[in-house]
Amino acid sequence: MELLQTIAAVRNYVAAARQRGLSIGLVPTMGYLHEGHLSLARAARQQNDVVIMSIFVNPTQFGPNEDFARYPRDLERDRELAAGAGVDAVFAPAVEEMYPAGYATYVQVEGLTEVLCGASRPGHFRGVTTVVSKLFNIVQPDRAYFGQKDYQQALVIKRMVRDLNFPIEIITIPTVREADGLALSSRNKYLTPEQRRSALSLHRALNLGSDLIKAGEREAAVVRRAMEKEITAWPETRIDYVAISDADTLKPLEKIAGRVLLALAVWVGNTRLIDNVVLEVN
Ligand code: PAJ
Repeated sequence: MELLQTIAAVRNYVAAARQRGLSIGLVPTMGYLHEGHLSLARAARQQNDVVIMSIFVNPTQFGPNEDFARYPRDLERDRELAAGAGVDAVFAPAVEEMYPAGYATYVQVEGLTEVLCGASRPGHFRGVTTVVSKLFNIVQPDRAYFGQKDYQQALVIKRMVRDLNFPIEIITIPTVREADGLALSSRNKYLTPEQRRSALSLHRALNLGSDLIKAGEREAAVVRRAMEKEITAWPETRIDYVAISDADTLKPLEKIAGRVLLALAVWVGNTRLIDNVVLEVN
């Protein structure tokens, strides 16, 4: 497997592949890889001749009081895991390679980025769409892979691709979970054993909400309150948001109908975790 650390090296690698008529799949990540990331890589492996994974902890998507400095990093381990999942090349640039002195250009998707995670993390999606645009321009893949775990992120990227005419197919992959239901996340590493138990409250609340809706409840406020009660029953939890929204527009619903997103963000100690599920309700 190739390790590419400069934009020039990626361009050479991609040009050689294109000359041979090969298709290219891109898997953008911030590293500290787990099975969630690897399931994206495996899907890319099946659908493309060449798979490139980016590993870059992107400073522009972290707020000033967020965990950019302490975000877990382990490039050696990531390289082995990526190779095992069929990745052909890892692009792991330095911050200065992506954001040289004088960097001044940002990509912003309006509307969709102003709710849910966008409301509690101002500037976060602007950083995501900026770095993903740069990765798309550097790699120019045929397909790019995103996880449903970050549902809003995938939706925002799809809107950006449509609005800015990137000739790239965006593919979303189901959330990979631990045996007990906790969604895999690089941030799970921060949790103490007791917090790890409380982290299960997210999955429990989503299951509870889904069950209520399947049993016929259509009042979003009733479902939301039940989910909130489930979460706050666990030690060290603090709700950021519990949302019941239209899965396409992310607008909050009062009456539950159509393609419905149950999404939540919960602080467990000092760690902010997110999870979601999409239901077809008729
Ligand atoms: P990161 O959190 O490293 O996630 C990289 C990709 O893996 C994202 O598309 C995310 O949705 C997916 N992913 C994470 N956990 C998953 C799980 N349990 N199951 C399935 N997929 C999962 O998301 C980012 O990085 C960044 O914002 C990025 C898009 C790379 C831009 O910097």
